[in-house]
Amino acid sequence: MQTVIIKDNDNEALSEAALMLKEGHLVAFPTETVYGLGANALDSKAVEEIFKVKGRPSDNPLILHISSTSQINSIVREIPQNAKKLMEAFWPGPLTIVLKKTDHVPDIVTAGLDTVAVRMPENPLALKLIELSGVPVAAPSANLSGRPSPTSAEHVFADLSGRIQYIIDGGACAVGLESTVIDLSGSNPVILRPGGITREMLLEVLENVETDPALESNNDKPRSPGMKYRHYSPRADMFLVKGIQKDVINAINNLVKQKHEEGMKVGVLTCFENSGKYEADEVVSAGSACVLNDVASRLYDALRKFDETDVDVIYSEVFNEQGIGHAVMNRLKKASSGRVIEA
Ligand code: TXA
Ligand code: MG
Repeated sequence: MQTVIIKDNDNEALSEAALMLKEGHLVAFPTETVYGLGANALDSKAVEEIFKVKGRPSDNPLILHISSTSQINSIVREIPQNAKKLMEAFWPGPLTIVLKKTDHVPDIVTAGLDTVAVRMPENPLALKLIELSGVPVAAPSANLSGRPSPTSAEHVFADLSGRIQYIIDGGACAVGLESTVIDLSGSNPVILRPGGITREMLLEVLENVETDPALESNNDKPRSPGMKYRHYSPRADMFLVKGIQKDVINAINNLVKQKHEEGMKVGVLTCFENSGKYEADEVVSAGSACVLNDVASRLYDALRKFDETDVDVIYSEVFNEQGIGHAVMNRLKKASSGRVIEA
């Protein structure tokens, strides 16, 4: 299959892609978080194709993307008051809400759960595609399972070229990390995955918001099935190095020296401010440590850069966990399988 890339101003091609989407084909599209791999959510066969193409475990449910709130009534059984408030405050935007599902949603979408994750993305191309298709669109991130999520059409092409019909190219994703997932199907709101809408922002709308304890520990079973997989992994082994800045730089440089003596090639993931301070084979900056939004939007591209090199091991600085930094560190901990070296 030849993968066609559609430019963002080609309205005719967008309409064609929307029609193909409705008819059961897969279309990758930009959102403000990461690129999604979309299928008609009401077509079980099309959704099954998503799992095949990505190599995604079948027990990991998908997010339904909608373009108007009127679409939600056929998808969820009821919309509790706190969900209404969040939709009003953050939709369209990088917030996914988990609610009790209706029978209208095929089991394959939710991996057999009685809840469904719903989100209205903010990217105009995403909204237009969903609207033109006339159906809710099931979409995971448009990467091969286990690879960093794609934040550009080039990333999608690198992973899925020849496997899907269309990629809509909307340029780089603004947020760069996947949406926040909040579960409102139980008695208390619980963050299952940190993302673009931070806990601080949620607390401006809701009185209390819990965080799934499994996010901070390796022992608890996460409530979001997707969070249990080793995700976002560069090919080389990755370690986080934590401590005061001067010590971190020294520790990483010592590790680089040691690995070089063992004949290994070493990568370092750092911030813009420190990028001149390392003697590694590949030094990749994820942006200024003072501008965490910048780090978030460039993180996956930085991780993918290491895959294009032959480094055997990667050492990464850690970032401030405030605001979107929580999501940045969540992804970095996963990419490194939680391995932290104290400097
Ligand atoms: O920003 C995003 O959310 C992107 C773009 C494309 O919208 N999508 C995305 O999808 O990240 P995916 O499939 O890579 O991640 C979906 C996450 C997984 O961790 C999954 O387990 C969780 O949402 N999820 C989906 N349905 C759920 C449910 N009913 N209950 C709990 N977690 C659910
Ligand atoms: Mg994903």
